[in-house]
Amino acid sequence: MTRTLQLGILGSGRGSNFQAIHRAILSAHLPARIALVASDLAQAPILDYARSHQLPTYACPPSRFKTKLEPELEQTLAAQLQQSGAELIVLAGFMRVIKEPLLRAFPGRILNIHPSLLPSFKGLAAWKQALDARVDITGCTVHWVDDSLDGGPIIRQAQVPVLPQDSPESLHQRIQEQEHLLLPSVLHDIATGKIPLPE
Ligand code: GRF
Repeated sequence: MTRTLQLGILGSGRGSNFQAIHRAILSAHLPARIALVASDLAQAPILDYARSHQLPTYACPPSRFKTKLEPELEQTLAAQLQQSGAELIVLAGFMRVIKEPLLRAFPGRILNIHPSLLPSFKGLAAWKQALDARVDITGCTVHWVDDSLDGGPIIRQAQVPVLPQDSPESLHQRIQEQEHLLLPSVLHDIATGKIPLPE
């Protein structure tokens, strides 16, 4: 049975994946509603995009850490997401590791998009890791988030060939083109019940 998914989006950057989700909603390809777009960075372009489309936003106060949020800040973020009515959290370029407060608030309901064929090339600049490793094929992965780094159960992947003339930028761009198809397609299959959400 199809439902309208209530999405909480977390991002730190440009938000091109979020824009792909939003386009899929606007064109009626994805039965979903954006409940909240939140960022750890008040200046993140993803928030500008959301505001310019009259979508609700939340910016975390500045954090002392680079790779995680203080537990109090993450707790407040989780509360904001819960109050917005979000039922599924999408990490769309969120640059902080998710810890207990969010994992407890949304058990089994947080997914991430990563620019490699996991389990290969976890962590930062995965497209550059793939180039340096001289693999023929890389890609992108949508996976459930647990307390490991890029290690939760894989939902779906898309492959991208590495071309001889590829630079890190050209490879990343082609991976992102696939991300923009993969992420909305996974969300569609969650909305239609093909991929189950925990109760
Ligand atoms: C994407 O490459 C995604 O795989 C990674 O962060 C990047 C976010 O890009 N997790 P954007 O902000 O969606 O353009």
